[in-house]
Amino acid sequence: MTIPSTTHFDTAARDWDQRPTSLQLAAIPERLLAQLPLQASDHVLDFGAGTGLLSTAIAPHVTQVTALDMSAAMLQVLDEKGFANITTRQQDISAGLPGQYHAIVSCMAMHHVADTAALLHTFAAALHSGGRIALVDLYQEDGSFHGDAAANAAKGVQHFGFAPDSMRALAEQAGLVDIAFGEILRLQQHNGRAYPLFLMTGRKP
Ligand SMILES: C[S@@+](CC[C@H](N)C(=O)[O-])C[C@H]1O[C@@H](n2cnc3c(N)ncnc32)[C@H](O)[C@@H]1O
Repeated sequence: MTIPSTTHFDTAARDWDQRPTSLQLAAIPERLLAQLPLQASDHVLDFGAGTGLLSTAIAPHVTQVTALDMSAAMLQVLDEKGFANITTRQQDISAGLPGQYHAIVSCMAMHHVADTAALLHTFAAALHSGGRIALVDLYQEDGSFHGDAAANAAKGVQHFGFAPDSMRALAEQAGLVDIAFGEILRLQQHNGRAYPLFLMTGRKP
């Protein structure tokens, strides 16, 4: 069965980087990198990498980036960017992660995964000791960010953003420490409203 959100992202992939939302999200990688200590020898996982907003910014600073996404078309666009040290991997995160990483990053993908507790456990289990998370998503919103109910369903939206206290608790239950939150961007949407995005950072002891 093809799940609705895969169809949505496969269809949107070719024009993804030119969307007004993507043009605004382009400010995020530099801000995220300022809060994520990386070593040249690091291997980083980008969950829900899409066309590589984070992966392409991180790749010059590390030895390897694994860009994981369930949309083949999104990853095809990323592959065409020709980064030698970015490996794309098409799979659903619910199947688990294929390796161990020094950092796991993500931008605007967590709200597509129903079980956030399981997701954070998956991240924590796949981090080396001392490894870090740097995760960007929407603060809790009223469901209007992606459009109406039909749009939310078509795009596979599972959460209308996240409350920091709940996310912090889930991250700590997953065994992560030094959890910190901050607003990283305010996204102006077609409906005239601005939606704040958080960056959540943390570390595996
Ligand atoms: C809103 S896009 C964000 C893409 C990119 N990070 C960016 O900010 O431009 C969300 C991405 O997460 C991917 N995704 C959603 N659920 C997923 C899952 N369960 N496993 C793997 N990828 C998933 C989608 O295919 C999509 O490419």
